[in-house]
Amino acid sequence: MAQTRENWRSRSGFIIAAAGSAVGLGNIWRFPYVAGENGGGAFIAIYLGIVFTLGFSVFLAEQTIGRASKRSPIAAFRTLRGGAWPIVGFIGVLAAVVILPFYSVVGGWTFGFVWKSILTTTAEAGSFGNFISHGWLPILFHALFMSATVGIVIAGVNSGIERWCRILLPGLVVIMIVLIIRSITLSGAEKGLAFFLQPDFSKVTMATIQAALSQAFFSISVGMGVMITYGSYIARERSLPGDAACVIGLDSLFAILAGLIILPAVFAMGQNPSAGPVLTFVTLPKIFAEISGGTIFAILFFVILSVAALTSAISILEVVVAHLSDEHDFSRHKGTIATGIILFLAGIPAALSFGPWADVTLFGMTIFDLMDFFATKLLLPAGAIGMALFIGWVFWPTAADNLNRPDVSPPKWAPVWRWMCAIISPALILWVMIGGF
Ligand code: PHE
Repeated sequence: MAQTRENWRSRSGFIIAAAGSAVGLGNIWRFPYVAGENGGGAFIAIYLGIVFTLGFSVFLAEQTIGRASKRSPIAAFRTLRGGAWPIVGFIGVLAAVVILPFYSVVGGWTFGFVWKSILTTTAEAGSFGNFISHGWLPILFHALFMSATVGIVIAGVNSGIERWCRILLPGLVVIMIVLIIRSITLSGAEKGLAFFLQPDFSKVTMATIQAALSQAFFSISVGMGVMITYGSYIARERSLPGDAACVIGLDSLFAILAGLIILPAVFAMGQNPSAGPVLTFVTLPKIFAEISGGTIFAILFFVILSVAALTSAISILEVVVAHLSDEHDFSRHKGTIATGIILFLAGIPAALSFGPWADVTLFGMTIFDLMDFFATKLLLPAGAIGMALFIGWVFWPTAADNLNRPDVSPPKWAPVWRWMCAIISPALILWVMIGGF
């Protein structure tokens, strides 16, 4: 039998931990360049529209499944309905198992860059490429990152996850504000601000909307069962929609703050904003090398990237650990250590994908890209579709009664939520999935 379940200790426990999960590499590393490539303010407006409607509906679906069942993803579906539905939970756990290894590799890079920024007075151009292709060095930092993740999750829901997110997230805000001030006071920064914030609707195409949708769902951590797992620790007295809106609001705020750090600096230093994925890891170190006080800002920047990655990684690990504890009677201690070791080993081929194993490809993708593709383009959307359909067609109308405290009637907009889950969100996610091929 499963051990007694912890609940979040404080009222804001879920919000803090779920925001920690949502705010990750997706916000800081990905959002600014995707927004930059897709019409700046126009993209941001579309993104916000999507995340607060479709994103909100799927987020709330996951949260409801978790709180109503008080179980981890697979057990949750078995408890609430059974039949073939636990497969949806299985897709989520599988996604966690595939994502954590390569997410931890990138988390390791962020650790490595903090270390590099401390050691080198000027972050030399090209040093990033040297680092990730080095061979054993990225594996060492991947091990460190995974160990930190394990260290937090092993301490439990309250003393580990809730406590650390409560320390790390506010720290993130403070450092980000320092960095924004530095970035927007560089001369020429206004061009970057305009690029990031001024809407350019001429750049908006169907592809833009697809990009916004896929960014939105990844960024709020839906599809994997993180919100089922974290939702299972929410007490009955809480109402869910308010918490969901807070988490999504915080996640969007951090994405915009990240853009305010990165794009003004990129423009001020005459760099290319459409550099894509290398924007954070290659372009920024070059910029830090040139501005006064660059070393300290480089350290601060890679610290925020590390922290954001870490609070997301713990939520991914928690999905697996909660599953092992609910379904296979593992203690938290044993489950966390075993999962950490296995997923560390699974990440080694991904870590080598940028160096010695760069030529090892399947379907034209490296091992890293393949894991990323399989999990984020296939498993996460499939999981999100399953969870939304479950609320819309199977767990309705009970789902509505589970949104608020047992003695409070469902909100008036609950039927709108139902149809978002039943038809609109699944159809649009499917459209994005097809676009991914
Ligand atoms: N939301 C995280 C990010 O922005 C990634 C993530 C996805 C974490 C799914 C957990 C589950 O980086």
